Amino acid sequence: MRTVEEKLARSLTAESIELIPYLPYLLQDIWELGSSPKDILELIVKHIHVSVHTMVLDLACGKGAVSVHIAKNLGCKVKGIDLIPEFIDVALDTAQEFGVGTLCEFIVGDITKAINSEKDYDIVIFGSVGDVLGNTEETITLLKNTVKKGGYIIIDDAYGTNNSNTTYLTRERWLTIFHKTKVKLVGEKTMSDDEMIRVNHEQQPLIMQRANELKVQFPLKEHLFDSYIQSQQAECDELENEISGVTLLLQVID
Ligand SMILES: C[S@@+](CC[C@H](N)C(=O)[O-])C[C@H]1O[C@@H](n2cnc3c(N)ncnc32)[C@H](O)[C@@H]1O
Repeated sequence: MRTVEEKLARSLTAESIELIPYLPYLLQDIWELGSSPKDILELIVKHIHVSVHTMVLDLACGKGAVSVHIAKNLGCKVKGIDLIPEFIDVALDTAQEFGVGTLCEFIVGDITKAINSEKDYDIVIFGSVGDVLGNTEETITLLKNTVKKGGYIIIDDAYGTNNSNTTYLTRERWLTIFHKTKVKLVGEKTMSDDEMIRVNHEQQPLIMQRANELKVQFPLKEHLFDSYIQSQQAECDELENEISGVTLLLQVID
């Protein structure tokens, strides 16, 4: 079984845990680390009645891009948890910049532990975090425990296709798991290929530049930074060609 550190590295497309200390540097130019705050906001606005009393939990919140957008646009309270202290520092600073410091709480923490104590939220968000909480069925079962009865779960992941070479589940498999875990698919938003390509083309050069800077600074670790560039590129190729990024809104029915 993979360790928390190995899963942390994988959640940010790093093949080796040796890269973990360098991730804040490599990703310093990127705020939105995975999920599209716009897509998540659209799903919430369309399907959920939100008020100032609505409580949102953002698990593995990264630099808080999703949380800050939700607080800013919907005025509800958000708590974000992430394992990387530098990401939490950025989240705290940007919440202040956006004028939502009092609505947002950000803490450094391990979500595999927090999942057992965080309870009674209206909405829980699990955006681009992969298998940190286990397989899809295990993840949904754990996320359900953090929300009230009738509460909502937002997951950002991807649909694989029957003939793709990836481990991503097909939409059909996802639906079977929703049925088994007693959640209802209320809404979904797939990312268009054009949007995916735009995001990848915007972010990839920024990451490559930082990796090249690290190669100069730490020549003995050149292979490590090269491997990061390669795995980032492989992920972009997979997202653009083999799988389809999707944001899912689920409601707990039992
Ligand atoms: C691809 S990023 C997504 C961040 C954010 N959800 C977003 O969409 O912008 C994955 C995040 O998972 C976090 N992470 C991975 N394992 C974790 C754990 N066990 N506890 C807390 N955070 C974790 C990483 O630090 C990283 O910020």
